Amino acid sequence: MTSTEPTDAVGSGPVGAPPTVDEVMSVLSNVIDPELGADIVSLGMVPSVEVGTDGIVTVEIKLTISGCPMRAEIKKEVESRVELHPGVIDTKIVWGEMNADERTEVMTKARWNARENAAETMVPANCNVLAIASGKGGVGKSSVTVNLAAALAAAGHTVGVLDADIWGFSVPRLLGIDTRLEAEHVEGSDKPLIIPNERRVGDGVLKVVSTGFLVDEDTALMWRGLMLTKAVEQFLRDVQWGELDYLLIDMPPGTGDVQMGLARMLPSTDLIVVTTPALAAQKVAQRAADMAKRSFLRVVGVIENMSSFTDHHGDEHALFGVGGGEALAAQIDAPLLGRVPIEPAVSAGGDAGEPVALDGTGPAAEVFRSIATTIADELAPARAADDIDMAGCSARLFDSVNKAFDALDAQA
Ligand SMILES: Nc1ncnc2c1ncn2[C@@H]1O[C@H](COP(=O)(O)OP(=O)(O)O)[C@@H](O)[C@H]1O
Ligand SMILES: [Mg+2]
Repeated sequence: MTSTEPTDAVGSGPVGAPPTVDEVMSVLSNVIDPELGADIVSLGMVPSVEVGTDGIVTVEIKLTISGCPMRAEIKKEVESRVELHPGVIDTKIVWGEMNADERTEVMTKARWNARENAAETMVPANCNVLAIASGKGGVGKSSVTVNLAAALAAAGHTVGVLDADIWGFSVPRLLGIDTRLEAEHVEGSDKPLIIPNERRVGDGVLKVVSTGFLVDEDTALMWRGLMLTKAVEQFLRDVQWGELDYLLIDMPPGTGDVQMGLARMLPSTDLIVVTTPALAAQKVAQRAADMAKRSFLRVVGVIENMSSFTDHHGDEHALFGVGGGEALAAQIDAPLLGRVPIEPAVSAGGDAGEPVALDGTGPAAEVFRSIATTIADELAPARAADDIDMAGCSARLFDSVNKAFDALDAQA
């Protein structure tokens, strides 16, 4: 309906007095940005509205990026809603683009909204949720997940491990657990809850959930009918996690919808991106960071896995290239948490169900333990049950994610 020349030649002129600016604003506050999940007024996307005496309403709308794919949808919504007013004869939209600061602010608001509207989960509010992601499979996500979980538990923490790789699960084998999951009636819940499998590690404990534990044929059938995201949601909602300092999530390779689902249910989730040292792999890994950005998750670190292998003569062999971790970390402005060398002990530990980070003495074990220490000391210190992370909503946290997006824009 937008046109530069309003035509009331066919007798479709304003039927009443034009609306006030406030009236237009309140109508616009019903327009939801489909991607950001909040209304365009409270997101600060409408810096000005003008109402002419001729019944023409001019709305200025600032998009997060000018090429925003939601633009057409927003336009349609704005026009149809504003033109419901009998005093409006036409709507003009003046498009603008946010600067970096405005974008950061809008992301913060969106993240805050996501948190406010988050679906209920059984994951305690003080739990640090870390999702281990990568652009593709086979880079060592699952190995990284179980080794970090084991090292954190060995340091005395209570660590949940959620195997979100629903069809490609490997966590049960890597942790040497094959007990079937049981459901139990828990006080305060109207339905039975799944009790995670537990494994004590030093002073800490691992609480593990994976579809690999649902071996019963009927249960497997039930799961087969579910979508990936639904399965993950169910693990967050119907598992009696109990107390948790950390929840580590082994993400399926490259599926954006699981990240979106996570962002909706656990908006405080932080992402750790795993990449191999190959410079080409870094581009793939960046897709994971890109998806994080779109779902308002922040990337707190990069781990390079399968870094150079050192033989028994002490000679290094960069089997999968050099520099991928550093390059990705620089590109998305997130710290490189560590470089885990290729070491037969990593896969042997996986086959034996004994993560090398537990009692291993080689360099890989040491790197895993040192990353766990960085997580516990710097990135995500364990919190008391009543200490809920408000800092997670500060604009600062979006900086690195913003830079990742800017880098992507530059590439496009
Ligand atoms: N640092 C490493 N050194 C040696 N083998 C590794 C290392 N990291 C992973 N692997 C092996 O590589 C394979 C893929 O790892 P995995 O953790 O299953 O990757 P993903 O979960 O990303 O698909 C496994 O066989 C694993 O044992
Ligand atoms: Mg895996």
